[in-house]
Amino acid sequence: MTKKNNFNAYSIIAKKRDGKSLTADEINWMVNGLVSGQVEQYQMTALLMAIYLNGMSVAETAALTDAMLYSGKTLKFKGENVVDKHSTGGVGDKASFILGPIAAACGVKVPMMAGRGLGHTGGTVDKVESIKGFKTALTLEQFKKQLDKEKIVLIGQTKDIAPADKIIYGLRDVTATVESIPLITASIMSKKLAEGANGIVMDIKTGEGAFMSDIKNAKALAKSLRDTAKRFNKRMVTYITDMNQPLGNYVGNSLEIIESIETLKGNGPKDLTDISVKLAGAMIYIAKQATSLKEGEAMARESIANGKALAVFKKLIKVQGGDDKVIDDYSRLPLAKVITEVKASKAGYVSSIACKEMGLHCVALGGGRHKASDKVDLGVGFIFKKKVGEKVAKGETLVEIYHNKNQAAIVKDISAAMTKEIKISQAKVASPKLIFEIKEI
Ligand code: URA
Repeated sequence: MTKKNNFNAYSIIAKKRDGKSLTADEINWMVNGLVSGQVEQYQMTALLMAIYLNGMSVAETAALTDAMLYSGKTLKFKGENVVDKHSTGGVGDKASFILGPIAAACGVKVPMMAGRGLGHTGGTVDKVESIKGFKTALTLEQFKKQLDKEKIVLIGQTKDIAPADKIIYGLRDVTATVESIPLITASIMSKKLAEGANGIVMDIKTGEGAFMSDIKNAKALAKSLRDTAKRFNKRMVTYITDMNQPLGNYVGNSLEIIESIETLKGNGPKDLTDISVKLAGAMIYIAKQATSLKEGEAMARESIANGKALAVFKKLIKVQGGDDKVIDDYSRLPLAKVITEVKASKAGYVSSIACKEMGLHCVALGGGRHKASDKVDLGVGFIFKKKVGEKVAKGETLVEIYHNKNQAAIVKDISAAMTKEIKISQAKVASPKLIFEIKEI
């Protein structure tokens, strides 16, 4: 049992286990104790399970966010125009590469601190590392300098920012406590607040390929995030968007960079373009560069049409040491050389694509990780030639699998699984709804 300052881990755990509310001091003591080593990881794990089972009030969630936020360094930027976006993650979600440059082209300062792939979902940092030379490990000083100068910066998580989250996330990941609204809220908000964003646009994914698979929980998470943002005096717009099929048509690290560049050139698929423009529009709006979401969205579309957003992305690649010629020459990306096609076994309309399974197939090919130390293959992935609602003829290509020569056996298994997981119906199927809820504070 750990004792200090009249608190002890045992009674704090017991209090939460019995459904009572914790004080900010108790929460703070546990989080600080975890980081300093005074509270054992198994004690924190027990508390996390108690929180998972009994929930937390808005005040407790804010106190947990606060304790995690101040467990490391915090950045501060002047001006309301420092705005970031966070997605709860999905398959084919490459919107950051599109909306970041759009927002920066429209007067927003965008401090992107992104993650690596997690479970079946891909990670922004892995994807951008398909661009040769792109450095995602800048110091916080370099991060600040670049944001001021270029209005946009993209780095991976550093150990200085919210270190308590790193430990707590690791514990949750292996103890079945990830899907907890207060724990997700504190995890996301502590990182976003520490990186210095004054406004945040949240893209909460819902559906089969999302961590929050049902809409009721997605709405509750959106509310919890807004309530916490309000307590920290930050502007926020929450979007709940569809993750029942991959976003866009390309899944896999290099492939997603290609689709992002094509979208910035105005050639992107409708779902990816619409989501990117809407979220960027919200960033522009809460950064006070537009007077409404609608005006922000129009500015975002214009920045694609006039090439300014693409120019920002090219510059971002260059200033972070990457090969900016990839913008016009995709052969400079490490794309896998062999393509195997998955064909439709019958004619009809695509009625569903098992989204999470598609993410897991990409991981199985080497495009994601089974454990943190795994090396990611940046070249493998899929191009979905047909999405939900589209008509397909018998024998037509549903998916192109990009893989390496020595992967014939696994590709055979994936092709067979995809034939079952991409359902085709005789009846016409409508294109799925993309956005379920938009709320701002
Ligand atoms: N993303 C995070 O950063 N934290 C969570 O807990 C879940 C998703």
